[in-house]
Amino acid sequence: MIFEHTSVMPDEVYGNLNLSPGKIVADCTLGGSGHALQIIKAIQRGGTLIGIDQDIDAIKNAEKVLKPFTGNFVLFHDNFSALPSILESLNIKGVDGILLDLGLSLHQLRNGKRGFSFQRDEPLDMRMDTRSGRTAADIVNSFSERELADIFFRYGEERMSRRIARQIVTARQIKPLKTSKELACIVKKAVPAKIAHAMKIHPATRVFQALRIAVNRELEKLETFMDTVPDILNRHGRLCVISFHSLEDRIVKQKIRSFENGCTCPRDFPECICGFKQSLKSISKKPIRPTDKEIMSNPMARSAVLRVAERL
Ligand SMILES: C[S@@+](CC[C@H](N)C(=O)[O-])C[C@H]1O[C@@H](n2cnc3c(N)ncnc32)[C@H](O)[C@@H]1O
Repeated sequence: MIFEHTSVMPDEVYGNLNLSPGKIVADCTLGGSGHALQIIKAIQRGGTLIGIDQDIDAIKNAEKVLKPFTGNFVLFHDNFSALPSILESLNIKGVDGILLDLGLSLHQLRNGKRGFSFQRDEPLDMRMDTRSGRTAADIVNSFSERELADIFFRYGEERMSRRIARQIVTARQIKPLKTSKELACIVKKAVPAKIAHAMKIHPATRVFQALRIAVNRELEKLETFMDTVPDILNRHGRLCVISFHSLEDRIVKQKIRSFENGCTCPRDFPECICGFKQSLKSISKKPIRPTDKEIMSNPMARSAVLRVAERL
């Protein structure tokens, strides 16, 4: 099966990656390989696409989608935080472009069968990389009420976090939670009807986001990755990151800023003595957002935010 894909902000991504034949580009979040396919077409004749995804389904899909370009790409089933060691293994010192299109692929959401969506009844797993790590079921069935509330509040910005955590702990005393629908029902029950009615999203949306972030340690991996960007981008190389919620975007924004202006000297010092050297330049002072036309044809793009930086 080949995944369906609706790549977010394709024109904005290709334009900002400054693609041309011969370049080496890392697509660190292959998903349905929509972006990857366009990138590889643009860098063909001497170029190399390094494709990464921590979901084995995305790698298998990329093998099929990119097959016509065999010889121009290498694929890695790994976390993108491993990009520096991947480059080392390939004997590549730096890349000319990096794309991160964070979050879930359509495949994971609709066919992943790992409980990412509360629309279907699936095992409560939520691991993008199923080789190891705790599942969402492990977390909801073993973490304390307080730990659960913290996760929902921190990663989901869920204001009902304590009520929801209490309801989960009560429910699991009867029987452990096993499926996405079970969890969604418990969350819905915990949110007062009046509040649930006024919400524009399903009451379980934030809890599902929070659990997914916790299971995959998404923010930690993003931070680790962002710290390595200046070391792995070639001069004038471009970084494009699409994020879908403020927690991710904040990390990207702050890390770019720290490489752009991380001088720690007091403001009234006549010159810098802390040794800071600017390594990145932000190309998009304001985040780039999808056009209304794109949002109309792909409503899932509505919360996407693209940030672009260039290696000096
Ligand atoms: C939104 S999809 C990418 C869609 C893709 N750009 C396209 O055009 O079809 C995000 C993908 O990134 C992967 N992913 C998310 N975090 C990752 C990480 N830390 N390391 C590797 N892959 C990751 C997910 O497994 C998912 O397949």
